[in-house]
Amino acid sequence: MSSKIIDGKAISSQIKSEIKTETEVLISETGIIPGLAFILVGENPASKVYVKNKGKSCEELGFYSVTETLPEDVTEAELLRLIHNFNKDGKIHGILVQLPLPSHISEQIILEAIDVKRDVDGFHPLNVGRMVIGEKCFIPCTPFGIIELLRRSNVDTQGKNVVIIGRSNIVGKPVANLLIQKEFNATVTVCHSKTKDIKSITSNADILIAAIGKANFVKADFIKEGCVIIDVGINRIEDAESKTGYKLVGDVDYEDCFGKCGKITPVPGGVGPMTIAMLMRNTLDSAKGLIYGQ
Ligand code: GUN
Repeated sequence: MSSKIIDGKAISSQIKSEIKTETEVLISETGIIPGLAFILVGENPASKVYVKNKGKSCEELGFYSVTETLPEDVTEAELLRLIHNFNKDGKIHGILVQLPLPSHISEQIILEAIDVKRDVDGFHPLNVGRMVIGEKCFIPCTPFGIIELLRRSNVDTQGKNVVIIGRSNIVGKPVANLLIQKEFNATVTVCHSKTKDIKSITSNADILIAAIGKANFVKADFIKEGCVIIDVGINRIEDAESKTGYKLVGDVDYEDCFGKCGKITPVPGGVGPMTIAMLMRNTLDSAKGLIYGQ
């Protein structure tokens, strides 16, 4: 069958252009400039690239942003002090601590220190809990991006079988919770490393969401003809033909599944750019006081 590409780059550009216009209106009407603080700990190369790209988006959209880079051996107490300062900073509407953190720092303690009203990543347990019961909250950026990709590509979720591979706190769990809500009415199955016979489950999926971090894991014989595939994976694999010596691939074997699925997100250019767009959306909504008031 002919497969269609879900162009995350184009959809995210559209969303960012909407945000830019709204930001101009907000600034001219109220003087409020959406402000985002990034905290980067250590030298993780992927984290550095992510934070740089997020900072670039702030610049493009007219946001104020500040990046604090801390050494790998920073203490948990120092990191907490920095977060407490941003929590009190009137110019800052969103705080993002880039994950993963070094192993001597408790991710949970750090995430819980972020003011719920500035938790634009949606990782604070209060935002997580509110999301699960369908209350107003910050929705984590990658799950929010996936929902928006489905919405803007006219993918119907009502009564559909959604299979998610991966149960992370950042993607699998929140996406599952969102899609069972009344607005989406999907029937959701979550697979993970201990799931038996994954193929028998994925081959029943109308919508397959892969978020496991294993390059090219999903093959054509995993999927149902005509299904929609959302590939959240970003994996580096060796590629002798590329100048850098590597290339980025998803968790789905794109070449293998293309032609059998109905729609598919590419890697790169699928979910990745959506994550940044939704971070900007959460920060703008925070600045407007739309989630928790001013
Ligand atoms: N590391 C990987 N994804 C994310 C994300 O969405 N937010 C943060 N803070 N760190 C991440």
